[in-house]
Amino acid sequence: MVLRDGRPDDRPAIERIARRSFDRVYAFFALRGRRHASPLLVAEEDGTVVAFLEGRLFDGPPPVGYVYFVAVDPDFRRHRLGRILVEESLRRFRDRGATRVFAAVPADNGASMGLFKALGFEEVPQGAMRQWYGRHSVLLLMRMMLAPHEVLLAHTFADLSPASVDAPSRP
Ligand SMILES: CC(C)(COP(=O)(O)OP(=O)(O)OC[C@H]1O[C@@H](n2cnc3c(N)ncnc32)[C@H](O)[C@@H]1OP(=O)(O)O)[C@@H](O)C(=O)NCCC(=O)NCCS
Repeated sequence: MVLRDGRPDDRPAIERIARRSFDRVYAFFALRGRRHASPLLVAEEDGTVVAFLEGRLFDGPPPVGYVYFVAVDPDFRRHRLGRILVEESLRRFRDRGATRVFAAVPADNGASMGLFKALGFEEVPQGAMRQWYGRHSVLLLMRMMLAPHEVLLAHTFADLSPASVDAPSRP
């Protein structure tokens, strides 16, 4: 598996995966969204792009990250590609100063809900979204999932070298 930033020539692969993953409307927005995505990440297996993630970073003190779309080719699901992509996006968002990262998940999308929960995202009560973002709390029909600061820190520092993690403590 190779994880890398998406490029303009990944368009056909992203379109293929989006069409196999979403209904027509969502697939349209996923394809269009890649142009302004930051980060745009793709995962390759044997030289073929089989998964992608589109993120957005909203300005603000501090900035807020948003996992806009993540999709894995159906033939490659449950191989941890979704997890790897979201984890990398959390690192990227945190490096750019975000202390919160959101994802919008359709309530009946068990796979997506499972993925974000497995990574430490928590469901956000709708009242909290309105309080934080007022009328701009879009997508209230979706379940909003939040990765709080401690989750971002955990994912950022989870890949410490074994030496620094396992070093025996000295008296
Ligand atoms: C959601 C999606 C991206 C998950 O990708 P994936 O590569 O299959 O997921 P992973 O293998 O990384 O799974 C990570 C965790 O997510 C959860 N999960 C993944 N698929 C699941 C499913 N079908 N049901 C329940 N939990 C699931 C599990 O907790 C899993 O951990 P485990 O394998 O140790 O049990 C994929 O199912 C997909 O592309 N769905 C269609 C597009 C979509 O709905 N995207 C999300 C909204 S933008």
